[in-house]
Amino acid sequence: MRIISLHASIVTLAVTLAAWPAQSGSIITPGLEWEDTNGSPINAHGGGVMYHDGVYYWYGEYKGDFTYRSPGVGWDCYRTEAGGVSCYSSRDLCNWTFEGIVLEPDTVDTHSDIHPTMVIERPKVVYNDRTHQFVMWMHIDNHNYGKATAGVAVSDTPTGKFRFIEAMRPNGQICRDLTVFKDDDDQAYLIYSSEDNATLHIARLSDDYLKPTAHYTRNFPNGFREAPAMFKRQGKYYLVTSGCTGWDPNEADLAVADQVMGPYTPMGNPCRGVDADKTFYGQSTFVIAVEGTDQYVMMLDRWNKRDLIASRYIWLPFEWSDGKPSIPWRDVWAPNTACRAAR
Ligand code: GAL
Repeated sequence: MRIISLHASIVTLAVTLAAWPAQSGSIITPGLEWEDTNGSPINAHGGGVMYHDGVYYWYGEYKGDFTYRSPGVGWDCYRTEAGGVSCYSSRDLCNWTFEGIVLEPDTVDTHSDIHPTMVIERPKVVYNDRTHQFVMWMHIDNHNYGKATAGVAVSDTPTGKFRFIEAMRPNGQICRDLTVFKDDDDQAYLIYSSEDNATLHIARLSDDYLKPTAHYTRNFPNGFREAPAMFKRQGKYYLVTSGCTGWDPNEADLAVADQVMGPYTPMGNPCRGVDADKTFYGQSTFVIAVEGTDQYVMMLDRWNKRDLIASRYIWLPFEWSDGKPSIPWRDVWAPNTACRAAR
């Protein structure tokens, strides 16, 4: 009897695994192709997730399907045409519905900061409760990353369309990889690699979130950290960053502070398991605080630099032991959302 049921379980497992060519259902399988609810691969790289009125919105770089090397640039400057910013929605963090390109590239004006020949990376969206607007910040660059600016766009709804306002250097400072963090007191902060990627700046945004204020701090001077992702847990601020090796993976670092603008104390690499020293061949982009739970989900991009649209997503939950965070590798896991109930 037990042998029969064991056999049945193995058959069921084999059939189930065979039916999983990609990520699906109520689980997350880090690193596998992830399809939206229409069966198309999710195209939202370098992204971030915003929770609003019971729905998670995932915004990311919409990569073109042709990767090329920027002509005349000495380093590994692989890119696709800038396809704008995509948005997907979900109630469970597992099943994502494509909401469209919510910030369209400007294909008409060849001088536009969001023309397809430019670089639009790492979009992040926050809701402003005072102005009732959704504000998107993103890294805007030119073909050789020499422009090094932050771009801002707004929309009245989470699914756009967003209206591009401007690209600027915050306080006249270089800006490349960036994220935005909204604190419990509704102040928001722009966190960006500055000083030619040597130093990470944290600038407080204006009350409408549309401009950086003059109030900013310099973090990890000459530390060359990028790909910032911030979250807050039990009154402490955590900042995950990568090193600076372009599309190639390196070791992550996690730092902690009592104040949002620092000073941040490095805690070392939070990743655990095989290839932890290479961040599982991924790079940080955002941490999702799962609504109503104590779960925090690290979003990483596993870049495929010669075929950028085929880059994969690695999402892994933090673990806490004696107040210390870590990110152990998992082949499969389920978020603490209404995932299973929703299906
Ligand atoms: C990385 C950065 C990516 C992208 C890439 C271009 O350092 O994190 O977002 O800009 O460089 O080479």
